[in-house]
Amino acid sequence: MTFAPPLLICNARILLPDGTFCLGDVHIQNGKIARISESAAADSEAIRVDPDGRVIDASGLTLLPGVIDPQVHFREPGLEYKEDLFTASCACARGGVTSFLEMPNTKPLTTTQAALDDKLQRAAEKCLVNYGFFIGATADNLSELLTAGPTPGIKIFMGSMHGALLVDQEAVLEQIFAHGDRLIAVHAEDQARIRQRREQFAGITDPAIHSQIQDNQAALLATQLALKLSKRYRRRLHILHLSTAEEAELLRQDKPAWVTAEVTPQHLVLNSEAYKTIGTLAQMNPPLRTPHDNEVLWQALRDGVLDFIATDHAPHTLQEKAQGYPNTPSGMPGVETSLAVMLTQAMQGRCTVAQVSRWMSTAVARAYGIPNKGVIAPGYDADLVLVDLNTYSPVRREDLYTKCGWSPFEGWNLTGWAVVTVVGGQVVYDHGKLNTNVRGRPLTFEPTPSPSISEEPR
Ligand code: DOR
Repeated sequence: MTFAPPLLICNARILLPDGTFCLGDVHIQNGKIARISESAAADSEAIRVDPDGRVIDASGLTLLPGVIDPQVHFREPGLEYKEDLFTASCACARGGVTSFLEMPNTKPLTTTQAALDDKLQRAAEKCLVNYGFFIGATADNLSELLTAGPTPGIKIFMGSMHGALLVDQEAVLEQIFAHGDRLIAVHAEDQARIRQRREQFAGITDPAIHSQIQDNQAALLATQLALKLSKRYRRRLHILHLSTAEEAELLRQDKPAWVTAEVTPQHLVLNSEAYKTIGTLAQMNPPLRTPHDNEVLWQALRDGVLDFIATDHAPHTLQEKAQGYPNTPSGMPGVETSLAVMLTQAMQGRCTVAQVSRWMSTAVARAYGIPNKGVIAPGYDADLVLVDLNTYSPVRREDLYTKCGWSPFEGWNLTGWAVVTVVGGQVVYDHGKLNTNVRGRPLTFEPTPSPSISEEPR
């Protein structure tokens, strides 16, 4: 770990844990928030005169907890031609993302303790931000799922995945839900329905058909099954990138206390119209839906039916994306733009800045039991992002750090870009410049609040 000298962020508009703002200074020592003093305080002298210390004048800027992105695909090991842990973490730093939880569909798959250890080792060497890695479920690695760690949880691809990570048989899923108590995160799409519709629509090369093949019903069927198993075993369940109005309505009616769900920025602000303008760059799993789905997802998020936001950052090269549907891989990058996309929505009145921060930091830390992160308060880790909510600038391909080199939001004029990103008290991004000497730390996970066992299964 690199040594973090004292840091003072002064004159910032600081988001406090209760969702209000104050104007003041944040004093950081040993990588943690030592003190918050309202309005420019004279007693910051002690740190100001420290020869190793640094002072950031944050006048006009807003200080938020660093974003914790709980679903990313960073491609290392094995697929580094698309992205690697260094380039991805550079993109995180620029995007104000100070921690990430990464998915197991790398090469080899992260389905064993050895593969998890390898990723942790690689991340320690090259990640500029904090990191955690899911363990992936296969049909036959139950013993690893019970013991591997540290991990935020078990990832199950119920659909949309080939090879060993596809777990689409109810009996196998039931075994996983029935054993152990750690969090299960599901990619909920029904593989049998996808298979059948792929045959039905074979030969169509318009990428818009992707949203018809992997339709709302495919997502709903899998979410219903995951919910059924979660209730049967009272098993902590998280539904990844929930994308349809039907699933949101299902959870609105029937969401046990031990179930959480997330939505991506792209499922909120893009829909199947995007195929017309960006073609296969809009292709992802679960697919983009309709404007109606966008609206229902926004309402569900504002109402707390959906708990937080993840990007599902899934980079593929432009060459791969140019192959023509259906040979194109699904997925789009996101960590570099997610905070600005969401804060722009806030500034346009869709939600508040405090809500964005709750969905992108506080609620994620709480749901995954990540201690000392997600709010700006004394004693918490100094993972912070200073954003500029006064100016707008466009997403430009030439500014991107992600190795894939493109964004579905190119040309979008956004506000709320990170100006300074701080990881563990160290400035990792500052007015367009990265400090590539900074290294993040492995995240730890406390058991999340267990389901209330007095509550009857519904
Ligand atoms: O579109 C997607 N691409 N969705 C996923 O869940 C996986 C991802 C990938 O790894 O490319």
